Amino acid sequence: MKPLKIALTKGRLEKDAITMFDKMGLDTAALKEKGRRLILPVSQYEAVLAKAADVITYIEHGVCDIGIVGKDTILEYPGGYYELLDLGIGKCRFALAGPKGVDFYGGYSSKTIATKYPHVAERFFSKKGMDVRIIKIEGSVELAPLLKLADAIVDIVETGKTLYENGLEIIEDVEPISARVIVNMASLKMRKSEIEDFVARLDEAKLC
Ligand code: PRP
Repeated sequence: MKPLKIALTKGRLEKDAITMFDKMGLDTAALKEKGRRLILPVSQYEAVLAKAADVITYIEHGVCDIGIVGKDTILEYPGGYYELLDLGIGKCRFALAGPKGVDFYGGYSSKTIATKYPHVAERFFSKKGMDVRIIKIEGSVELAPLLKLADAIVDIVETGKTLYENGLEIIEDVEPISARVIVNMASLKMRKSEIEDFVARLDEAKLC
């Protein structure tokens, strides 16, 4: 049988996920010495290092079985996969933020929101019954209000340092975020016991 493929989000989640794999007793030597390699053996499994949105794509298409990815990406790309476990790592939140001291909800003019997460922003404002214009930005969304492209942003806030250092402040929290385990729907049927065993061991290896 082919090894189960675990798509792991590169970057912020990587270090804590590897610590959890260590706690599970898995051999993470190759992952720790990965160089530029993207597929690494981890005991009987294979880890695939990918960008967050691509973790979802690989899981949806069934070329990876299990994914470790932030709830932010799950909320932006919901759908064709199961979400099985909250890992409690990569904790941060979505927030609406804007220039310090400006009353975002004041006045009658319609507002422009910049974000890397247009669906999340759209849902947040449609729940409020507020009609806003949303502009998609790929990174460093904080630039948009500074350049007067947008009145506010919907973005991830972890320490709040980026907002603070750019003269922005939180207007309202949108949603808490942490890393989740997602699973391909067919894999869960075909390789149920292997996947459930992996997820149960991950659950036991949680860091908090
Ligand atoms: C995220 C987010 C903020 C920053 C928040 O960006 O978009 O810019 O982190 O972190 P803080 O509250 O601790 O300052 P990331 O570094 O992931 O890069 P990006 O701007 O390219 O999305």
